Amino acid sequence: MSRRRRIYEGKAKVLFEGPEPGTLVQYFKDDATAFNNKKHGVITGKGVLNNRISEYLMLRLAEIGIPTHFVRRLNMREQLVKEVEIIPIEVVVRNIAAGSFTARFGMPEGSSLPRSIIEYFYKSDELGDPLVAEEHITAFGWATPQDLDDMLSMSLRINDFLTGLFLAIGIKLIDFKLEFGRLYEGDDLKIVLADELSPDNCRLWDVKTSEKLDKDRFRRDLGRIEEAYQEVARRLGILPEGGPRDLKGPETMQ
Ligand code: TMP
Ligand code: ASP
Repeated sequence: MSRRRRIYEGKAKVLFEGPEPGTLVQYFKDDATAFNNKKHGVITGKGVLNNRISEYLMLRLAEIGIPTHFVRRLNMREQLVKEVEIIPIEVVVRNIAAGSFTARFGMPEGSSLPRSIIEYFYKSDELGDPLVAEEHITAFGWATPQDLDDMLSMSLRINDFLTGLFLAIGIKLIDFKLEFGRLYEGDDLKIVLADELSPDNCRLWDVKTSEKLDKDRFRRDLGRIEEAYQEVARRLGILPEGGPRDLKGPETMQ
């Protein structure tokens, strides 16, 4: 067991107390779940890859002025992040119909949308993360209208930027999920991008073949899951040195 204080354990990550006040250590596990925790599995090396991929994407987004919780990567499976108060809303940005959207609107997967569509889901395992409207979010006080404005404008900028970034490496960004947090710095409060950005929470399809390079390979038992995550990292130019053989170790948690 680690001697550090465990603040929170989620399905794919653990948060530990950080080395200085206001920081946390975000540890990426190989565990995968789907369908609100009904399906469980392990994707060997996923934690190492998602740590790298999320680091890379958060740094690129910071370069265009998107504030994020990311501070620096600490090792193969851990990154230092700023402690934020997570807003209990999942923001999903969709460019192409897929997943729950296709079921809800009876649309074939892969149909293009008239424009990018933003959806909000309330983070609640008991309720199965229901789709909610802005009305529910502000009436129940999960976020203020100002928070929502900030989240929406950041989500659209992130979508534009990531769509281009992935297209340049032959990948279509179909949809993705973002989480935001409130960061208190003295008397200042700002909304920053939090959680992670990885093939766990994006749908990524090869431009030429439409092959899925994301967690849908796990959700739908398509096989070659590890290879898909590695392929995303390889195309981003960040496959850990030594290639996939490096992915299993070394662990820092004792
Ligand atoms: P959905 O089509 O299942 O609603 O998923 C939309 C996007 O959100 C997709 O890129 C996967 C991601 N997602 C998560 O990151 N966590 C979740 O719990 C769910 C349901 C989806
Ligand atoms: N992370 C979600 C869960 O376990 C689902 C998903 O990503 O599909 O339930």
